[in-house]
Amino acid sequence: MIRASHGFPRGFLWGTATAAHQVEGDNFNNDWWAWEQQPGRIRQGHKSGKACDWWGGRWQEDFDHAAQGGQNAHRMSIEWSRIEPSPAVWDDAAIDAYRQILRGARERGLLPMVTLHHFSSPLWIAEQGGWLNPEIVTLFERYVRKAVAALQDLVEIWVTINEPNVYTASGYVTGEFPPGEKDVRKALRVARAMVLGHAAAYRAIHSLQPQAKVGLAHHYRGFQPANPRSPWDRWAARTRSDFVNALVPRAVHSGRFQSIFGSERLPQAAGTQDFFGLNYYTVERIAFDVRHAGEMFGRGFYPAGADLSPTGFIANEPEGLWQALTWAEAYGLPIYITENGVEDDADQLRPRYLVEHLRQVWRAVNFNWPVRGYFHWSLVDNFEWERGWTQRFGLWELDVSTQARRKRRSADLFEAICKANALSSEIVATYAPEVLGRLFPGGPGE
Ligand code: GAL
Repeated sequence: MIRASHGFPRGFLWGTATAAHQVEGDNFNNDWWAWEQQPGRIRQGHKSGKACDWWGGRWQEDFDHAAQGGQNAHRMSIEWSRIEPSPAVWDDAAIDAYRQILRGARERGLLPMVTLHHFSSPLWIAEQGGWLNPEIVTLFERYVRKAVAALQDLVEIWVTINEPNVYTASGYVTGEFPPGEKDVRKALRVARAMVLGHAAAYRAIHSLQPQAKVGLAHHYRGFQPANPRSPWDRWAARTRSDFVNALVPRAVHSGRFQSIFGSERLPQAAGTQDFFGLNYYTVERIAFDVRHAGEMFGRGFYPAGADLSPTGFIANEPEGLWQALTWAEAYGLPIYITENGVEDDADQLRPRYLVEHLRQVWRAVNFNWPVRGYFHWSLVDNFEWERGWTQRFGLWELDVSTQARRKRRSADLFEAICKANALSSEIVATYAPEVLGRLFPGGPGE
């Protein structure tokens, strides 16, 4: 076998990503907890409950695993409803708990990247109309100021908002997230509010902590026309991609908030990113379909023969990450892959998915593109939103009833990569031999 190694730059950040509501447990003061109590909202009636019991202290065990696994960074989020349980009421004990967690990360050599809003909002915010409330930008900025002032000695890299596109599409187009609306125009109003909320947070953070690095985590999803020769399918794929992928990044780059419904200048949003956070999972085919008027006439699906995850949620499409990186690179900013992963309880697909995607990251690094880190979703199985516990994204498996953790083989694989700061043919031969020939061509049988 040919021996080769794809090295990553010195100082590259290797970590995993988590989000407060998905791991902490007992987040009963936010809109997601309320949503989980409504029948029919979450698959199999699952609830977040104790989640991974981080609020009870089990982050320590999970951070131990991350650090022993060779990781040098961790992306996590803090929960607005804990820090500000009711309007302008601040919970110092919650802030202290976050200080402990962040100190715990640093002591273990995990550089924290902290997200300020990852899907969940305080109940009182939701009751006031959430991100449709005309006051939301002011309210979000007030929370951000408080959180950053309290945590800035422990955090340098901030993600203001996670995936504004997934938040708006799921909450206001498909209705799978709270508040369960199906109204594209409302989705656009929310996206606009998130752009302005991000911009206000960006300035607020820099006024408190000039050296901070501030960005967003953008979800990029590949959309290919089902039939590339059909102008209708091409239109549907392009329209979907513009709404899902381009709307928010364009607005925070150029200050132009532009959709099929019109264009508006938001000059205060222009140039408000110090880095480009990229979440990438998969590519879909899009067919034009009049029955999908509410989703801009696009019906998404995976083609026959796709390399699918166990519940069919994700198709393994590593080339899509390359396209995502090519697209992100054009923004001219340092890039962090802020999420990438696959649900796979049995850990059959994950090793292959992981090495094939990292191969694409290495391609970008090899061109000297400024990719600075990779955060795998996720460290340990956690509460997967409307899909509850039916999907398992962890490098570590969680037994929800006992809180016991068990290492998946992918945790060993990721450890080997982090420790080598490289993807080598030996690692691939050991953990995902089925793709060795594709990743390192030239070996026997090639
Ligand atoms: C992302 C989200 C994460 C996680 C992941 C896997 O969209 O930011 O919180 O749920 O998907 O489904």
